[in-house]
Amino acid sequence: MKLKTFPLFKPYLTFVLDNRFRGLFDKVESHLKFMGVKPGMRVLEVGCATGFVTSYLSNLVSGDGFVVSIDVQEKMIKKAKRKRGFLKNTDFRTESATDIKSVKDEEIDLVLLYFSFHEISGKEDAVREFYRVLKPKGILSIREPREEVLKKNRNAYWEYIEKHGFKPAFEAENCDAISCCLKFIKD
Ligand SMILES: C[S@@+](CC[C@H](N)C(=O)[O-])C[C@H]1O[C@@H](n2cnc3c(N)ncnc32)[C@H](O)[C@@H]1O
Repeated sequence: MKLKTFPLFKPYLTFVLDNRFRGLFDKVESHLKFMGVKPGMRVLEVGCATGFVTSYLSNLVSGDGFVVSIDVQEKMIKKAKRKRGFLKNTDFRTESATDIKSVKDEEIDLVLLYFSFHEISGKEDAVREFYRVLKPKGILSIREPREEVLKKNRNAYWEYIEKHGFKPAFEAENCDAISCCLKFIKD
C-alpha cells in the first residue's frame, strides 16, 4: 500500500511549532525517551524544521553524543542555525531524507522522525537510506499524528517499514491523544 505524502510545512508557519507553549501539550522529552534517545548516541533527526525538538535531543544525548539534524528546506535550516546554532553537539544540514549524502553507512545509532515522515516524498528511498546509515541493531523511531497513523494507515506503516528490513522493537508502539510513536530495529 502506498502511503500518502502531505505538503511540506511552510517556513513562515514555524511559529506554530516553535514556541514556548508547545511543551504544554507536547511532552517532547518523554516522547524522545520512549523513542530510544540515550546519552552518548549518534542521532540522525530527519525533518528538524527550525530545531525545536533538536534542543531536547542535544540535551538528552549530552556531551558524548551527537545530533545530525537535516531538513529538505534550506529556509528551515537557515532559521535553525540562527536560533540554535549555539548547540555544540549538533549539526544542522540541508539535505533530503531520500539521499543523505553527508552520512556514511552504519554511522548512526538512532534515526528519528518527529512529525515529518508523512511529508517525505519518496518514502521508499528514504527508508532505504535510514537502513543504510543505521548501525546493526540501530533504532528507527517515527512519531506521527495519531489521526493519520491509526485511523487510516496503521498497518500500512508497519508493513511498509518491515518490508525494508526492519522489525518492530520490543516496546514498539506508544500513543497519546494526538500522536503515535512507532519504533523499529534494524534487523
Ligand atoms: C511538520 S514539520 C516537523 C518539524 C519538527 N520535527 C517539529 O516537530 O517541530 C516537518 C518537516 O519535515 C521536513 N521534510 C519533509 N520532507 C523531507 C525530506 N524528504 N527530507 C528532510 N526533511 C523533510 C519539512 O521540510 C518540515 O520542516
